[in-house]
Amino acid sequence: MDKLIITGGEQLNGEVRISGAKNSALPILAATLLASEPVTVCNLPHLHDITTMLELLRRMGVDLVIDEKLNVEIDASTIDKLVAPYELVKTMRASILVLGPMVAHFGEAEVSLPGGCAIGSRPVDLHIQGLRAMGAEVVVENGYIHAKTNGRLKGARVFFDTVTVTGTENILMAATLAEGQSVIENAAREPEVVDLAECLIAMGADISGHGTDTIVVNGVEKLHGCRFPVVADRIETGTYLAAVAATGGKIKAKNTNPKILDAVLQKLEEAGAKITCGEDWIELDMEGRRPKAVNVTTAPYPAFPTDMQAQFSAMNAVSEGVSILKETIFENRFMHMQEMIRMGAKINIDGNTAVVEGVEKLQAAPVMATDLRASASLVIAALVAEGDTVIDRIYHIDRGYECIEEKLQLLGARIKRVPS
Ligand code: UD1
Repeated sequence: MDKLIITGGEQLNGEVRISGAKNSALPILAATLLASEPVTVCNLPHLHDITTMLELLRRMGVDLVIDEKLNVEIDASTIDKLVAPYELVKTMRASILVLGPMVAHFGEAEVSLPGGCAIGSRPVDLHIQGLRAMGAEVVVENGYIHAKTNGRLKGARVFFDTVTVTGTENILMAATLAEGQSVIENAAREPEVVDLAECLIAMGADISGHGTDTIVVNGVEKLHGCRFPVVADRIETGTYLAAVAATGGKIKAKNTNPKILDAVLQKLEEAGAKITCGEDWIELDMEGRRPKAVNVTTAPYPAFPTDMQAQFSAMNAVSEGVSILKETIFENRFMHMQEMIRMGAKINIDGNTAVVEGVEKLQAAPVMATDLRASASLVIAALVAEGDTVIDRIYHIDRGYECIEEKLQLLGARIKRVPS
């Protein structure tokens, strides 16, 4: 297992190019299963989760052509196995995204039930309920979800009693080929849901209301091919901005989209950052100052994203003042804080609330990454710690951050990867 060694104390300055969004690319790759013609997906980030999704499609017999820029042409017409096996689903929960498209297009799907994960129990009951409402027969047996439909799925009203991102995406995809109209209520409004809807529309789907909590889909008989670039990764963008802010530096994040980062940019301004934005770039300047502590409560979009909570806890750990962090989406998403406490952070955790008293500096310590965003937060903590921090189980970070060492090195960080 690789480790990262980071020598803290450098102020980060420079430019970074933001990659395509993992959480948009994954549903869009799954959506290619709905088309009767090849679909080309562009601006894919080079990440383990993307490789896993491509591997899943390949194992189903889907034809893939990848060019040197990682544009992938996907032809689902060659599919011959309607199964997402356990060994792939266990490494990536987002494999559940093939369920809706497979049933809708091919009338059948067998998808391994994802287990719990480090950040919480993460059930998929709402995905299953939604498909049942559309007439699919769904049985959960031997750790697998078996879904079937006789003829086309039927358009239906699907109400989610909890806002779910991949749940909304699964039902949205299924509805595009269903007979009649579907109305998804209390739908997720995340930019990645909007990006998926735009891709489906480019494939010929009839969708309106995406980006609001009510999405209306009029099913069509067939979807065609298209070429679609995935949106910029707002979480990768926010991670670099928070990292640079924690060090008091200056950064220009390019190839990104400031319009989908409102909640995060507002909190960074509150922390004392000067922020300037263009059409596809964001500049953050701390002018050498130490950040001010900011309170954060996570909630579905457009509120502050749970996927940025860990990075902000690292920034708050070295900020001036006391902050309160509340996690309302996942029940167990403070594991990084235990590691930060070992680095000298002053954090008191009570259930899903943490009180962080900023210290001037953290100290290096051997720490362990427990999930993707936790790893990113430990990288930030290490960047502002005195000495060499060794971060173990860094494979988590490769699931979601393209070329993180190279990008951080270009900003002036002292970071290297070592095999253990
Ligand atoms: C997606 C993102 C993840 C992000 C999360 C919340 C992808 C691939 N992953 O995950 O990075 O942290 O949104 O923004 O896009 N729930 C149920 N039943 C269900 C489904 C969800 O109870 O059937 C609950 C979950 O346990 C959780 C909440 O709903 O408490 C939100 O989860 P959800 O939005 O579904 O997260 P994911 O789509 O898995």
